[in-house]
Amino acid sequence: MFVAKVADVPPGESEGFTYQGKRAILVNFNGEFHAYVNVCTHNNICATEYEGDVLNCPCHGAQFRPDTGDVIRGPAKLPLTTIDVKVYGDSIYAL
Ligand code: FES
Repeated sequence: MFVAKVADVPPGESEGFTYQGKRAILVNFNGEFHAYVNVCTHNNICATEYEGDVLNCPCHGAQFRPDTGDVIRGPAKLPLTTIDVKVYGDSIYAL
């Protein structure tokens, strides 16, 4: 499914989208696109926000790596669920 135009998500920026009925987030981390189901794995309620070098959960401060979704700081213990994305031409698709 189409998610965004490359030009609309420059490095350091993110774009929210819906994936299989769930909140998702696409991030451009150092020119690479990564996407995740966007619920904090601490309590599956709050959405993370991309802040340059981390995905930060504003509810209780968990942090995740933008390139892997791995936990940097709790209280979350599980990584974010990855969504595969591909770039075709000037468009980004979630697989
Ligand atoms: S819900 Fe994300 S850190 Fe608590």
